[in-house]
Amino acid sequence: MTDERDDDTMTLGDGTSGQPGSEGEPPKHGIPRGASPDAVRAHYDTGNPFFAAWLDEGLNYSCALWSDDPEQPIEEAQRDKLDHHVAASGAAGAERVLDIGCGWGAMLHRLVEHHDVKHAVGLTLSHEQAAWDRAHATPEMEFRVEHWLDHEPTSPYDAIISMGAIEHFVRPTDPADVRIQVYREFFEKCASMLKPGGRLSLQTSVYASGSFVEGAVSAIFPESDLPRVSQLAVAADGIMEIVGYRNDTEHYARTCTAWRRRMRANKDAVLAASDEATYNRYQNYLAAASRGFDMRVFNLVRIAFRPLPIR
Ligand SMILES: C[S@@+](CC[C@H](N)C(=O)[O-])C[C@H]1O[C@@H](n2cnc3c(N)ncnc32)[C@H](O)[C@@H]1O
Repeated sequence: MTDERDDDTMTLGDGTSGQPGSEGEPPKHGIPRGASPDAVRAHYDTGNPFFAAWLDEGLNYSCALWSDDPEQPIEEAQRDKLDHHVAASGAAGAERVLDIGCGWGAMLHRLVEHHDVKHAVGLTLSHEQAAWDRAHATPEMEFRVEHWLDHEPTSPYDAIISMGAIEHFVRPTDPADVRIQVYREFFEKCASMLKPGGRLSLQTSVYASGSFVEGAVSAIFPESDLPRVSQLAVAADGIMEIVGYRNDTEHYARTCTAWRRRMRANKDAVLAASDEATYNRYQNYLAAASRGFDMRVFNLVRIAFRPLPIR
């Protein structure tokens, strides 16, 4: 673990935000770096046993893709979500696939173990996740503690997938033009890393009717704010075309409700891995998020992009 951290810090600038004016590595190309590694870790480094106590078996930590069956197990819905992105990005059978914001590695396992992908790379900012990922990895999987801005692939990817990560790429204090600049840089970076014909499949929560408010949700995701679909569309303009779009908002309300119930059902394990205050914060966050999707303050979208041949 110590060795891994030492390695990681070489690419990351451990503990620095990289924001203009902050200590540490200056932002590349003047692009703000979104939530600081410390802020992201504050969330995900709550501990693997904590998340294992209420997420599904594969530790998927983003919206599932549910069927109409109200009794469908969450494991199946999470697997169907992974397969949706494999299909939308064209990743099946590929040589090289990148997952930006890989969490606990469920997508890399699905790619390698079920879709015959030869080499799958996952980026995370969380040391806890990376330790877990590496402990469970097969030789076809490469997990890196690395900001997407810093990732320099050895060769281009056939497909890129990113689920539930872009929500960390801007801060609540960033003005709209800065947010679009960040998302534009993200699309440029993805386009530059893809082989011709390769696709990016992106899943994110977005604002439908609301905007940032301090509350139960923002307390869980410090220094982070959601995009709007319009910002993503403007940011991708001239770089990538949209080739697939799904609005699956009710799927995230259902996922948050399922997680909240599982957390309540496994309260002893949750408390053994955390404390009463953390349990309550997460219960409140999941209830508020679920309500936010139900009320259409937020949408959950899955969008597939393909780089334009002439940019
Ligand atoms: C909500 S989790 C989603 C994990 C996974 N995609 C899933 O669906 O289970 C967000 C992930 O994005 C990662 N992340 C956040 N900001 C990042 C950045 N700038 N560069 C790379 N990864 C980032 C976090 O470390 C975490 O692994």
